[in-house]
Amino acid sequence: MKALVYHGPGQRAWEVVPDPVLLEPTDAIVKIDTTTICGTDLHILKGDVPEVTPGTILGHEAVGTVVEVGAAVTTVEPGDRVLVSCITSCGRCRFCKEGHYGLCTGGGGWIFGHTINGLQAEYARVPFADTSVYKVPDGLTDEDVLFLADILPTAFEVGVLNGGVQPGDTVAIVGAGPIGLATIMTAKLFTPSHIVAIDLADARLEKALEFGADSTINNGRDDALAMIMELTGGLGVDVAVEAVGVPESFELCTSIVRPGGHVANVGVHGHSATLHLETLWIRDITITTGLVDTTTTAQLMRLIQERRLDPSPFATHHFSLTDAETAYDVFGAAAETNALKVVLTAEPVPALPVTDAVKQAEPVGV
Ligand SMILES: NC(=O)c1ccc[n+]([C@@H]2O[C@H](COP(=O)([O-])OP(=O)(O)OC[C@H]3O[C@@H](n4cnc5c(N)ncnc54)[C@H](O)[C@@H]3O)[C@@H](O)[C@H]2O)c1
Ligand SMILES: [Zn+2]
Ligand SMILES: [Zn+2]
Repeated sequence: MKALVYHGPGQRAWEVVPDPVLLEPTDAIVKIDTTTICGTDLHILKGDVPEVTPGTILGHEAVGTVVEVGAAVTTVEPGDRVLVSCITSCGRCRFCKEGHYGLCTGGGGWIFGHTINGLQAEYARVPFADTSVYKVPDGLTDEDVLFLADILPTAFEVGVLNGGVQPGDTVAIVGAGPIGLATIMTAKLFTPSHIVAIDLADARLEKALEFGADSTINNGRDDALAMIMELTGGLGVDVAVEAVGVPESFELCTSIVRPGGHVANVGVHGHSATLHLETLWIRDITITTGLVDTTTTAQLMRLIQERRLDPSPFATHHFSLTDAETAYDVFGAAAETNALKVVLTAEPVPALPVTDAVKQAEPVGV
């Protein structure tokens, strides 16, 4: 088969690799029909995630068709369409029993494209199939459910639920990339009275308004703290969600939150951020962090099924799976291409112009 293989910092290739085989009776082999690329894949390619070893197939988000199951698998069978999520659950360890699949110590957690071969491939071995994949309901397309593999549950669980968003709240979301936009989309399930998006890029702030933000602040140009204080009568926001992953954005969140409010950190941080306890200790602030558990995936899928949640605006670009390298170029150049999520399908899609495919790729869907 062919797959997108990581070959060390800055190097990747769509190339021939051995077909995956069942290694454990709890495994399934899934033919990948649709997959996408995550910002985390770009971090891996920069060499920021050293536990990913050269030779690993990348990718942790996909929808596919089961082609083979191990002897112990009882709930899915060949022919089933399944969502393969970024988080795998062994179903048996302490953390899985508590619903913290992201912390699984029994061989699950974030493993695809990390500690085992991933999903940007024609086929993949899926461990713990019974407790980790989700059957796709009839009537939903691959693209309807694809973003349930990572960004939607991440934003909902680590941003909105950890942040304790309540009806009537004022919510600030710092960072309007796919995660920040998914936080806007899922925060609206709780009817906040005002959502303000904060980002350095005007193009991303325009997207934030399309996704339902009520106002925006460009914190590269304007004083975000002063504007938030003006917006909230000097109190600060009820909930501040950090969806960037740099010290400045975390520190901004702790400065704009009201006394008794919540800071929900979603961003993956590579550097220390300063926690200003000298001003925060008296303010009753709750700060949460976390890796997604994906315990809300089925709940979010029902909302999509009932058309209460529409993830289609995330899909800005479409490619054939065999064109994975071009898809990486387009996704990696988001500042120029305005890419949010790129959708790669195993079926042939209309061919891109041969010359300069990156510039020619047309946004679709938004
Ligand atoms: N906790 C989890 O389980 C989990 C899962 C997936 C992703 N993440 C993390 O969430 C974060 C966001 O992911 P994404 O895919 O949306 O990233 P992204 O890079 O696409 O978007 C980040 C946005 O932040 C903006 N930004 C950069 N610096 C800023 C600053 N100082 N102030 C305000 N805005 C700033 C950028 O312009 C961009 O729009 C990343 O750190 C990612 O690794 C966490
Ligand atoms: Zn991801
Ligand atoms: Zn477990």
